[in-house]
Amino acid sequence: MQTPINTLTENFSKDGNLIYHGDAIHVLSRYIRNNSVDLIFADPPYNIGKNFAGFNDKWSSDTDYANWCYQWLYLCIQKLKSYGSLYVMTSTQAMPYLDLWLRERLTIMSRIVWFYDSSGVQAKKHFGSLYEPILFCVKDSNNYTFNAYDIEVEARTGAVRKLIDYRKEHPTPYKTSKVPGNIWYIPRVRYRMPEYEQHPSQKPEALMERIIKASSNAGDLVLDPFAGTFTTCAVARRLGRQTIGIEMQDNYIRIGLRRLGIASHLNGEKLKPPKKTYIRKNCDGKRHSQFKNKQLGLFDA
Ligand SMILES: C[S@@+](CC[C@H](N)C(=O)[O-])C[C@H]1O[C@@H](n2cnc3c(N)ncnc32)[C@H](O)[C@@H]1O
Repeated sequence: MQTPINTLTENFSKDGNLIYHGDAIHVLSRYIRNNSVDLIFADPPYNIGKNFAGFNDKWSSDTDYANWCYQWLYLCIQKLKSYGSLYVMTSTQAMPYLDLWLRERLTIMSRIVWFYDSSGVQAKKHFGSLYEPILFCVKDSNNYTFNAYDIEVEARTGAVRKLIDYRKEHPTPYKTSKVPGNIWYIPRVRYRMPEYEQHPSQKPEALMERIIKASSNAGDLVLDPFAGTFTTCAVARRLGRQTIGIEMQDNYIRIGLRRLGIASHLNGEKLKPPKKTYIRKNCDGKRHSQFKNKQLGLFDA
């Protein structure tokens, strides 16, 4: 079955940041020039039944979902410059389809595991899923951007004192920093974090920062075909890149307009960050103050 494509599109832009409100396949094929983008980060719906402001993230079969992905992946490859990079996320169960398809068209440089802890995942009959896979692919494995020094992390040896490399001609302390491996621990976006927006699948700024710093330079063009809360574009903008974000849902376009400083109002309505309440509730969703004999928790002092 072919996924229907919505062809209604509008756009908004300011200071090198461009938002397309429309369908990714339509916008990519109609509005984005071939060989024009330095870095694409694609975080599509995962075909796991999430509700994206009314859009039901569920295809009728795995094959239908994979065929839909192949359409926009094909376009992403066309839009990338010859030395560009593509990062792709999807569910653990769908990634094998994309991996097999992509490795025939690009070089997969890394298969990254983004893992996190989650008190929400409490499986009783299997091992709960606490990671999401990311593919890092390039068009030309002999010529692509990788700013190793910009993303170094502390090299943990486990030793208390400084380790010396005695194999060298002059014994030298081991380097204390390194390029991260392909297993990344980065906490998920939580309600209380300042970056939180109302979206079921918002990616952390720290995750995007590592990808954008590694695979693009200041002034480069970074594109996200499934922008959601526009995390990619917001981080890329902060790092001095130009951005294009494509998103289908009105609610999330509003977040993008605000996060990228493109507009403060839309259709006369002020664009505001999510209103948060810090009142603690019990498991039934009732406020603590509603309980006469409430029991103090560890952090209630
Ligand atoms: C996994 S989320 C992306 C989250 C994003 N990375 C973030 O940090 O907020 C996928 C997004 O794709 C959007 N979407 C779904 N189908 C689309 C389509 N055909 N074209 C453009 N956007 C689409 C959804 O509304 C949703 O916001």
